[in-house]
Amino acid sequence: MHTKITTPENDRFLRACRSESVDCTPIWLMRQAGRYMPEYRALRDRYTILEMIRTPELAAEVTMQPLRSFDLDAAIIFADILTLLDELGLGLRFIEGEGPVFDQPVRTTGDLKRMEPRPPAESLAYTLDAIHCTLDKLENRIPLIGFSGAPYTLACYAIEGRGSRDFPSAKKVMYTDPELWDQLMGLLADQVGDYLVAQVEAGVHAVQLFDSWAGSLSPQDYTRYVMPYSQRVYAKVRACSDLPFIHFATGSAGILKEIHQAAGTVTGVDWRIRIEEARELIGPDVPVQGNLDPLALLGPEEEIKRQAGAVLDAVKGQAGHIFNLGHGIHKTTDPGKVKTLVDFVHAYSRRET
Ligand code: CP3
Repeated sequence: MHTKITTPENDRFLRACRSESVDCTPIWLMRQAGRYMPEYRALRDRYTILEMIRTPELAAEVTMQPLRSFDLDAAIIFADILTLLDELGLGLRFIEGEGPVFDQPVRTTGDLKRMEPRPPAESLAYTLDAIHCTLDKLENRIPLIGFSGAPYTLACYAIEGRGSRDFPSAKKVMYTDPELWDQLMGLLADQVGDYLVAQVEAGVHAVQLFDSWAGSLSPQDYTRYVMPYSQRVYAKVRACSDLPFIHFATGSAGILKEIHQAAGTVTGVDWRIRIEEARELIGPDVPVQGNLDPLALLGPEEEIKRQAGAVLDAVKGQAGHIFNLGHGIHKTTDPGKVKTLVDFVHAYSRRET
């Protein structure tokens, strides 16, 4: 189904995603809604993160919070990549100081069989409702980005049951039980693809696929064990829409070509590689998103401007650049520094029209 979407008044982000000319470089920030903002913490004092995500009105409010303080060129729906696993029955809890934990991780074929996948349009209807609610509030001013975790990153959490530095249990399944790996990745690819399609049908203007832990893989293993499933996700979305599709992984310098080959019209770039080098690797015409070190925002204003200016200088005003951090914003970031960054990126990149 092709959903009719109207172009927002500020379409810099969408134009850059299509390598079209822009008046200045668009900017949005991964995790732009979150604990670094006092107004977010005020709501978090009253609700858990899952309550905020599952209550469309609250999720929409949190989505809008950073837009009131900063001149951002896109909104991203407030949700989390892990709700999809929770809705498969894995029992998600966020533990203060420890992060996400699943009470029923998937380690055996029996665990997999216990999962009862429902269409994400039903199981994750609260996020689709939050998208409708946010679109009402945005009044077509700027675009709204939808997102999902990628099959590999979700499989890592599903098998491990919690965050990890190198995901040994997940890799053990990948190497020792390829059948279980294929079944789990296949199930997740279908769920993720259907979830992104449902978000497109709900009216988002672009989607981002977060494969946050793909940087833990060799290019060979990425190609063999992961790429076919991210390709399946991309094919599902492409079958119903030609909206911008951003594919992002961290620590991905060694697999950027593969990331680009697997999925997406825009490639996310983290800060561990020069953005011009990333462009050489994946092709100069491929739009890129990135790539300031999120912790640069902990430095003084002059340092933030120097580093952000260096990213913009490296891109040399070429078409197809969306400014972003190389990963999510850190919770100790001073909101005043975020304003400095956003205003600087617009002013420094302003092109004469
Ligand atoms: O970008 C946005 O503003 C949209 C919201 C968003 C959240 N999580 C909200 C959130 C997005 C896009 C995510 C993605 C996400 N979630 C990823 C992929 C991106 C990345 O950072 O690599 C991952 C790996 C997760 C899993 C996750 N969710 C973790 C590890 C944690 C705990 C982090 C911590 O510091 O405690 C979360 C919780 C979470 N998701 C928070 C937010 C704002 C903080 C929770 C809180 O309010 O207590």
